[in-house]
Amino acid sequence: MPSLRKPWHSMAKALILGCLFTGFLLLFYAYVAPLQVSMAEPPDESSCSPPAPPLNSSPGGPCRPKTDIVFMKTHKTASSTLLNILFRFGQKHRLKFAFPSGYNDFNYPSFFKRSLVHNYQPGDCFNIICNHMRFRYPEVRGLVAPDAAFITVLRDPARLFESSFHYFGTVVPFTWRLTGRDKLAKFLQDPGRYYNPRGFNAHYLRNLLFFDLGYDSGLDPRSPQVAEHIREVEQRFHLVMLQEYFDESLVLLKELLCWELEDIVYFKLNARRASAVPRLSGELYRRATAWNQLDALLYRHFNASFWRKVEAFGRERMAREVASLRRENERMRSICIDGGRAVAAEAIQEASMQPWQPLGTKTILGYNLKKRISRRHQQLCRKMLTPEIQYLIDLGVNLWVVRLLKLPWSAE
Ligand SMILES: *[C@@H]1O[C@H](CO)[C@@H](O)[C@H](O)[C@H]1NC(C)=O
Repeated sequence: MPSLRKPWHSMAKALILGCLFTGFLLLFYAYVAPLQVSMAEPPDESSCSPPAPPLNSSPGGPCRPKTDIVFMKTHKTASSTLLNILFRFGQKHRLKFAFPSGYNDFNYPSFFKRSLVHNYQPGDCFNIICNHMRFRYPEVRGLVAPDAAFITVLRDPARLFESSFHYFGTVVPFTWRLTGRDKLAKFLQDPGRYYNPRGFNAHYLRNLLFFDLGYDSGLDPRSPQVAEHIREVEQRFHLVMLQEYFDESLVLLKELLCWELEDIVYFKLNARRASAVPRLSGELYRRATAWNQLDALLYRHFNASFWRKVEAFGRERMAREVASLRRENERMRSICIDGGRAVAAEAIQEASMQPWQPLGTKTILGYNLKKRISRRHQQLCRKMLTPEIQYLIDLGVNLWVVRLLKLPWSAE
């Protein structure tokens, strides 16, 4: 007679093995999923096709606030601050966000796909898309109304490179060979010696803007494709903002979207403490620009078109509007912020106000809310100061993978 212990034993074994295997698969998936290169998918016929909007008021009449917005969130460009603005606007108007599932990005650095949107059903329409992604226009296009506004932010590529090197350097393994205090200078002395275009997370360290916008960041700068890509960005985006002229950019945004001043007030989020921001010397600045040549060409183009837009808007009018935005920011600062300024992580009292930190450092600043804030401003103050990850959670996004693994590259 076969013993009863045997099958019981093997069942238990199978059960344990099964659990281990499932756990392993989950972890494996969590690690590998964001790294997979996605296959090209044929465009489907299931695009968002909203009912025709009611006829607008007569031309020349007051405009209506635009509620359909795609914000292509580039890395290290003050985009977290803009995200906060979009979150607040979306809440105020009860708009429908297209959010990712599990992460705070759409499977970056893989290309964006509609199926990555949480609870996506073919034909769904969304008002706002604003989480990190590697841009793929046809996929995004199909999720929003035909007249949605497409916006993005660029930044001087040398400065962006410096910031990205600081923030992501530790998750790019080929930088581990760099030793000593000034790793950045060492890298820029001889990038070819360290840089491996196929290395894990390599995209963070060369032409990151080009990469985020969905293009090949390893293109030869002399290739005619470069100008074609830049022209394409020009055609697809209604406004390309510049981090260096953030306030002017917001004024242009407000004009484009027919928003109110109160919609664009902001506090600078996710900033580094000043001592953690090295000045790139003239020589290093030139090297960083040359190393990121594609982004430099992109930036030069949109820097020029930005100032043409400001010209068309009216220089004096711009100066007036920027001044009133700054006044309003100041006013909110005195209403909301304890001590009136950003503080180091250790000095932040409320856990929900802690910003995400780059691996192994505490260089990102945050804020303390004032103890006493009038009822009228309480909500707004809290929202304006809530870091990105916490705000996503408040908006109902399930970030279990981010929380589980505390992925250092998942913030910004
Ligand atoms: C951008 O354009 C402005 C105005 O033409 C110029 O002063 C500035 O140096 C440019 N910035 C960069 C980083 O090229």
